[in-house]
Amino acid sequence: PRSWRGVIDEYRDRLPVTDTTPAVTLLEGGTPLVPAPRVSQLTGCEVLLKVEGLNPTGSFKDRGMTMAITKAAEDGAKAVICASTGNTSASAAAYAVRAGMTCAVLVPRGKIAMGKLAQALVHGARLLQVDGNFDDCLELARKLSVDYPVALVNSVNPYRLQGQKTAAFEIVDTLGDAPDVHCLPVGNAGNISAYWMGYKEYAADGIATRTPRMFGFQASGAAPIVNGEPVAQPRTIATAIRIGNPASWQLAERARDESQGRIDAVTDRKILSAYRMLAAEEGVFVELASAASVAGLLQAVEAGQIERGSRVVCTVTGNGLKDPDWALAGASSATTVPVDAHAAATALDLA
Ligand code: F0G
Repeated sequence: PRSWRGVIDEYRDRLPVTDTTPAVTLLEGGTPLVPAPRVSQLTGCEVLLKVEGLNPTGSFKDRGMTMAITKAAEDGAKAVICASTGNTSASAAAYAVRAGMTCAVLVPRGKIAMGKLAQALVHGARLLQVDGNFDDCLELARKLSVDYPVALVNSVNPYRLQGQKTAAFEIVDTLGDAPDVHCLPVGNAGNISAYWMGYKEYAADGIATRTPRMFGFQASGAAPIVNGEPVAQPRTIATAIRIGNPASWQLAERARDESQGRIDAVTDRKILSAYRMLAAEEGVFVELASAASVAGLLQAVEAGQIERGSRVVCTVTGNGLKDPDWALAGASSATTVPVDAHAAATALDLA
């Protein structure tokens, strides 16, 4: 067995690079498709989790970032910029380091998880906390990339979605065909669009015999696609998907319609309950936004929108360690004991 080479070298002939383009990579991708027995039991489906939190910076963004930074380097860029709810900035900062570029990130002040902030800073990014939401940050980043010599690496950069489509390739390569249903969270709507591109490409080339129905889930306080209009003040505890005017809105609607899928809203309460269940009953620690895929699956099965017996892949997009606040909230607190076996045994109800 050889070791995994990162998504560009694994799928070079399916990506917009030449045979000789040097990949800027941290060996992202190759993430496991983990069976979820508890969610399978609850839904009567065969449910698998594509655990994207195991990427180098802890989210699926690394798949797109290896492409965006590789192409920026090929074009001679010296600096990159992005707006972010946290994960894109963490990824851009790390890949910029590998390419010897400077990285600037714009984040909504007070609305990004601590771990993500730490990542951008430890990788040496110039971090601006903007008095506004993600949509304001993206508008600013776009303006700056037009007026100044900095390359924009948000998912409006088409190379991002090209890199992210490799997750669909991996799923088909592992399962031997596409699943019946694919569930994932929707924020700026790039990832659902990228997966759909990947699934369609494999089906067109006969590597898969079919494509899945795409089910995307927004948080109910930040559900512009479901509502059919932008949300001026998006609200949700799942800060990664706190977005009111997604950049890939049309592409996501096309993925939904072409695949005969749905884009629906899930409440914060359901997101939090799926988040706790994944950690406590599957042993998989994801971030809140990631749990929207599983919360949405449970809701869709209950509503009779997904048949029992279906094979379902849920992408869990980011690592739970990025946002420990929500793990600690509502958890039982640790008991303090002296260095004493009897006291420890008593505290553990063993004695
Ligand atoms: N899950 C996580 C953990 C995310 O960080 C994001 C997006 C999504 C889901 C939604 O994916 O935007 O492609 O629909 N995070 C972006 C960021 C906005 O800045 O990190 P999407």
